[in-house]
Amino acid sequence: MADPKAFVCGMPIAHSRSPLIHGHWLKRYAIAGRYDRLEVSVPDFPSFLRGIRQAGYRGGNVTLPHKEAAFALVERRDGDADAIGAVNTLWFEGDTLVGGNTDAIGFSANLDQNAPEWRRAGRAVVVGAGGASRAVVHALASAGLDEIWVANRTVGRAEDLAARFGGQVQACGLDALPDLLASAGLLVNTSSGGLKGEEGVEIDVSRLPRQAIVTDIVYVPLTTPLLAKAQACGLRIVDGLGMLLHQAAPGFERWFGRRPEVTDDLRDLVVSDIEAKT
Ligand code: ATR
Repeated sequence: MADPKAFVCGMPIAHSRSPLIHGHWLKRYAIAGRYDRLEVSVPDFPSFLRGIRQAGYRGGNVTLPHKEAAFALVERRDGDADAIGAVNTLWFEGDTLVGGNTDAIGFSANLDQNAPEWRRAGRAVVVGAGGASRAVVHALASAGLDEIWVANRTVGRAEDLAARFGGQVQACGLDALPDLLASAGLLVNTSSGGLKGEEGVEIDVSRLPRQAIVTDIVYVPLTTPLLAKAQACGLRIVDGLGMLLHQAAPGFERWFGRRPEVTDDLRDLVVSDIEAKT
């Protein structure tokens, strides 16, 4: 049998750190496999998907801008993909192409590893209402938090997201943040406004209770301006890199047959890569 192989596809794809992560695990577990980086354009994506079996792939990761297209095109989806409305991991069950979403698992596993008391946070406040926010809200709802607030610049998007999940998920504008934060146990930033180190959404973390946890799904820079402010206030912070590392693990297990561990070695490797490129 040919050596197992998988891929990450997206456009652009040069920046993806998935090859570094899966390459590290293949070496660590001495698996004779391959993980390819493939640039695939939007018009080419449907035919690319149809050809992956023929090309010998066991599956792969899907990143921007293809996550929603993959959701629509796979033959079957797992429950997480259905809840989130996007697919980031593909594999075959028999001849059937299945799409899953491991972002929520990655988010929860990162907090479980670094601040396990997040599950008893009571009220969580999520800033941002894009694709990443859907995965975070799904993770929080699955963990059974009492109250989940989605605060967004465009309130309508937060309302759509809350309506999608229902139950304990509620929507508001950014102006509601100060009051909400005063009794929140967990604050999650998913807004891309803080990307590349710029300030983004203004969040007054000094309003949070002393025991609150603050996390950001942005991981470049590793300590975002929000995390730096939270740390300066003495709050517990968890950076977003662990989410990236943990979301990769289920795919690796499906394609290469072994559940990989998220170790300090792996984290150090990716941190070095981030530092080299920023
Ligand atoms: P992703 O899929 O990565 O979550 P997205 O769908 O583009 O990306 O969503 C980006 C999120 O960041 C949105 O919640 C967006 O707010 P809007 O829905 O109002 O656009 C938020 N965002 C981006 N830049 C922002 C800024 N400068 N201030 C406030 N929110 C911002």
